[in-house]
Formats: sequence, structure tokens, C-alpha cells
Amino acid sequence: MKIAKNVNKLGTEAVYNIFAKTKKLSSQGKEIIDLSLGQSDFKSPKHAVDAAIKALTDGHHGYTLPNGIIECRQAVSKKIKSLYKAHVDPERIIIMPGGKPTMHYAISFFGEAGAEIIYPDPGFPIYESMINFTGAKPVSYNMIENDNFSINPDKILSLINEKTRLLILNNPHNPTGGFTEKKIIDKLAIGLKKFPNVVILSDEVYDRLIFGNKEIPTLLNYPYLYDRLIVLNGWSKTYAMTGWRLGWGVWPENLVEHVFKFCVNSHSCVNTPAQYGAIAALNGPEQHLNEMMKEFNLRRQLIVEGLNTLKGVKCALPGGSFFVFPNIQGTGMDGEKFTEKSLEEAGVAMIPGTAFGKHASNYVRMNFATSRENISKAIEKIKKMLK
Ligand SMILES: Cc1ncc(COP(=O)(O)O)c(C=O)c1O
Repeated sequence: MKIAKNVNKLGTEAVYNIFAKTKKLSSQGKEIIDLSLGQSDFKSPKHAVDAAIKALTDGHHGYTLPNGIIECRQAVSKKIKSLYKAHVDPERIIIMPGGKPTMHYAISFFGEAGAEIIYPDPGFPIYESMINFTGAKPVSYNMIENDNFSINPDKILSLINEKTRLLILNNPHNPTGGFTEKKIIDKLAIGLKKFPNVVILSDEVYDRLIFGNKEIPTLLNYPYLYDRLIVLNGWSKTYAMTGWRLGWGVWPENLVEHVFKFCVNSHSCVNTPAQYGAIAALNGPEQHLNEMMKEFNLRRQLIVEGLNTLKGVKCALPGGSFFVFPNIQGTGMDGEKFTEKSLEEAGVAMIPGTAFGKHASNYVRMNFATSRENISKAIEKIKKMLK
């Protein structure tokens, strides 16, 4: 058998290996507190579940258009208008099976040998994996603790050259929980005017998980970028709907036909009843999201305070998402060792920083979208382990 050589260039997400290990240990009777996964412990909103069930009973079980049913695209457009005051024609919105395919398509469109793609390190591992897959050169910018894991426009702009095809941004940021305020994104957007050939992929999947009533720093605030802006978002994080596999992308008008063709050539269309659930989630009340964020805020304080009591651990308060990214260098272990020991000795699952890039060996990522009781227990267990 001869496999195409690019297949071996694909990376993975370490979270799935840890997920498998955690499941195995649990099935052997070991109590594991799982802080590894990138999802909320809240249930999906009832009105979304009910709408998906109704769609099935009403007979909505056939194919839809590859870009999604018009009602779903209109609901996204309406939400964009109400949240960001931006006008996006539903024809530029493509419903996808999750947030990830928008990333996969965007990187596939612009990556090839000789091209460069700029992305965050640490960052969501699929950016680098897909860049490598296409044969493009991955050019990273470092998200650092001293900058509060915030985007540094000058640093990013300095990496652009004539080979740069695509710039990937992610705000709020996985894995660090870093949040970059709108005034900094304003500066970056102005700087990007000088580089009209660079396309921007803005991954805004955590944009509703921002603490402290801050303005959402979406790239959709800059209409002058629309002809080269791809925005990735979806239902997974905002509405606790990761397993539904639902996302949306906003695309420049001239790319829509290519995205359409990619959809036809891969998944045909998104699960039909799920699209009805998606409409209900967008159009329904936001009480579910408000309650989730209120609870996440308490958990965020609890986990940061707890981690900062541990010997050798230093943790910044995340501005968004449901992740903390503590620096564990003071324990004398690197992130990999710390993760391994935590799982095996303390029974607490987390992800080493190196799963997100080369610049994060002194960090681990923990998800605080779990009960306060679990968080307190996890801190106690790690404290014991560090004694
Ligand atoms: C930064 C980032 N982008 C995109 C995604 C993909 O989201 P989805 O599960 O909707 O494909 C994730 C999921 O963890 C993420 O963390």
C-alpha cells in the first residue's frame, strides 16, 4: 500500500489520546477528574433539543443544500447583526459540520509549497497540522504570559512577507484563555491595510465566552477587510453543542462557490435536524448562555485562586473561554511530566502545553467547565501530589 505522502504530515489533538487514557483508567475503577476536554458540562438548551426532535418528526430528514438551509443562514446573519451591528448577507454564510471544517477549508485554499501561513503558538493544534498537510511553511507568533496571552499586532505584522497567504487569529484564545481587547484588534486591522494580499482566518468560536461585559472584538467590525476575511464560529462552545457538529463560516463573496464545491466533495450537507436545532439556539432566549457564563465566572475564580496556592504553580486569570493555562515550571517538572503524574498519581486529567505548540513546555491546560466541587477536589489532589 502506498499512502500519499502528505497524509503523514497531519498532526492530531493530544486531547483524544488523553480522553482514551482517562476512559480506560475510569473503566478500571479509578476515580478521574477530567479537566482535559474542550467542552462545557452544561446540557444543550432545551429549545434547541426540542426543535431538532420536532424537525425529525416533521419529516426533515433529507439532504439540504450544501451551504445549509436558508433559514439557518438567515438566523446566523440576524445574530451577527444584533451582536456585532455588522451586515453579512446569508449568501456569504456557510453552515458546516462543526467549527473545524471552516479551518480545514480555509487552510486548504491558501496552503501549498512556497506559501507561508502565520498562526499562534501555543494555539489550536489543527492550525499547524493542516498547514503542514498543505505543504505551506508554518510561521508562528508566540502568545506569551507576560503579554497576558494577548495578541501583539506589531509582532504579527512583522512576520508578513510576499509569501504570506493567510493569517490565523484566535480570540478568545485556546489553550491560554487569553483575551485581546477590541482596541488592540483595531490596531491590527489598521496594520493589515498595508498587506492587501493577506487573507485573514479569524477563529471566534469562543466569542460569547468573554468575562466582564467586554465588547466582542470580532473582525467583522472592519468591513474594509470583508473581501479577504473568513470568520469561523459555531454552536459548540456558546450553546454547549459540541457533539451536534454545527458551525458556521463567513466567507468573502468570491470564495463562496469554492466552499460550496468543497462541501459537495466532502460531507454534502450538515445533519438536517441539527440545523433546525441550530436555528432555535440562535433565535431562542439567552438565559442558558447567561447562566452558564455566571457559573463559569465563579469556577474561573475558584480554579485560579486554587492553582495559585500550589507550590511552584502560577496561573493568570483568563479573560475568555473555559481554559486556564498555569505555568508549572516552579514545580521542577515540565508540562508533560506534570500531566502524566497528575493523571497517574492524583487522578486529574489535563493536557500538556506542548500539545499546543513548541513554546509551551512549562504549561498545562485545564478546563474549568466542570463542577465547583470537582475543581476543589482536583486542586486538593494536585496539592497532595506536589508535597
Ligand atoms: C480554537 C478552536 N477553534 C475551533 C474549534 C472547533 O470547534 P468544533 O468542535 O465546533 O469543530 C475548537 C474546538 O475545541 C477550538 O478550540
